[in-house]
Amino acid sequence: MCGIVGILGKGPVAGDLIEALKRLEYRGYDSAGVATLENGRIVRVRASGKLKNLEEKLATEKLSGAAGIGHTRWATHGKPTESNAHPHASDKVVVVHNGIIENFRELREELQGRGHRFASETDSEVVAHLVSDGLKAGATPQDAVAATLKRLKGAFALAFLFEGENDLLIGARRGSPLAVGWGEEGVYLGSDALALAPFANSIAYLDEGDWVVLRRESSEFHNADDAIVERRRQPLQAGSFLVEKGNFRHFMAKEIFEQPEVIGRTLAHYLDLAEGVVRLPFDFSFDPARLSRVTISACGTAFYAGLVARYWLERFARLSVDIDIASEFRYRDPPLPDDGLMIVVSQSGETADTLAALRYAKQHNQHTLAIVNVDTSTIARESDIVARTLAGPEIGVASTKAFTCQLAVFACLALALGRARGVLTREQERELVAELIATPGQMAEELNREAQIEPVARDVARATSSLYLGRGPSFPLAMEGALKLKELSYIHAEGYAAGELKHGPIALIDYAMPVIVLAPPDASLEKTVSNLQEVAARGGHLILIGPPSARTAAAAELAGYVEVAENVSGPFAALVYAAPVQLLAYHVAVFMGKDVDQPRNLAKSVTVE
Ligand code: M6R
Repeated sequence: MCGIVGILGKGPVAGDLIEALKRLEYRGYDSAGVATLENGRIVRVRASGKLKNLEEKLATEKLSGAAGIGHTRWATHGKPTESNAHPHASDKVVVVHNGIIENFRELREELQGRGHRFASETDSEVVAHLVSDGLKAGATPQDAVAATLKRLKGAFALAFLFEGENDLLIGARRGSPLAVGWGEEGVYLGSDALALAPFANSIAYLDEGDWVVLRRESSEFHNADDAIVERRRQPLQAGSFLVEKGNFRHFMAKEIFEQPEVIGRTLAHYLDLAEGVVRLPFDFSFDPARLSRVTISACGTAFYAGLVARYWLERFARLSVDIDIASEFRYRDPPLPDDGLMIVVSQSGETADTLAALRYAKQHNQHTLAIVNVDTSTIARESDIVARTLAGPEIGVASTKAFTCQLAVFACLALALGRARGVLTREQERELVAELIATPGQMAEELNREAQIEPVARDVARATSSLYLGRGPSFPLAMEGALKLKELSYIHAEGYAAGELKHGPIALIDYAMPVIVLAPPDASLEKTVSNLQEVAARGGHLILIGPPSARTAAAAELAGYVEVAENVSGPFAALVYAAPVQLLAYHVAVFMGKDVDQPRNLAKSVTVE
């Protein structure tokens, strides 16, 4: 994880480095630092904690250099102290790193044996020492970097500055993303387009193994074999990267309330709204009728979107679906069938495990399709088919609108595959599309009822542990609700299939532990209500999220009730029920005074295994 940035500017760059780091803070916020060349000399300013601490330091320790690099950290090796904060320096070189240098221990011992003294506990510092070794031996900065890259194992994006070299910035990429941007005021390196958007009007991505030598008037890309290569430069539209909170207190709140709009936009991309049928913006690169199996792999919230989608793909397209979390998937070494389709799901498109799952599938001759929010991401670039979610930038670390847009894409995909495989008739397709088109409006109505969530949230905030229950697509939504509560409020929460309760978790029931039951009016409502009554019979602390009919059927004493409209029913109800589930976790965290947009220990883009 971590975010890195580099600038060769026309004037002082410290302010722009901070501005870019603000846009990368979602990648990590344990510590931050910048380095600039002050009259050719490397000067670093670093601070533990959030970026604002670094900003405060820079108000007194002013930097005026026109060449600089910056970093915002998600700690992997070493505590988030100032001495472990990047940039790391050795003699005439300073570096920022995103990723993990797996062989850092042996490199460190080797360097220490040659007299190098280390100032941090990080894996990253070895990179600076290796380069400085090369420089001392008489290599040019380019040659020293090229030789260093060959010694590194693991994943990295790197940016280097060199003492006395005011017009030189070198970047390298293996496993972690890195982009070059060109603008009126300079040339830039950054972990993603979002960081570069305010400054650059064109951008190019480094391919796997690439390194790049930047000067203000020239850019030279090299591939992993050091040969000079061309990389496609494309326009960058700043407008598409606006990241403002507007009138909302938190990005997460803004993103929750944006959902009716972005789900609508995503559906419009995949449906013919006038005809009321599915119209995908791409052709399948395979024959859907011949598909033998779908495999889905993803992490966290994106994985839960896949779990919901399994119900739809099985039901509407009669496809058998295997699904696994991406950090486990490839290590199972699963056999994958001929004519199999691999679907990976990722908001960022950079999650290391999901990318590895995709690569595993490609090695095993699967057709590949990526549902991604960042269409310039590595996962998007490496997939046969890219199915975009049109959620726009998601800044809150807890995923909300990306999740529901992933569901929207999956729903369209399931219907398209169902039609193409002859499972759904045109009439059935139209009925289902009509239900799907209704979801943004239903979501808007549920968001309007936000006020009813607050007292329930105050109640849940007193708990130290909680359970979420659901059946069918509401089961993965229960897991998603539990994840949201955990990551935002640090209250322990588990999502369970309601029918599984009696196989163990029921032992936990007491009045101190809220049990949050998701009960949309579907075919399993009666059974969900029975499970709810099992909790009530044991004196459980019940909170129901469902329609008035479910409340009546429950006929149990509830500690809390979140009403959802009766007409939010049918196969896509989970998409709309996501709204109260997200709002509950949000309000619990706000009530508890937690850092909603940047929960402790987390990062938005997880580019390490
Ligand atoms: O960028 P991705 O969708 O691949 O990220 C996957 C997970 O890291 C992400 O969903 C994570 O679980 C969020 N914190 C959930 O809110």
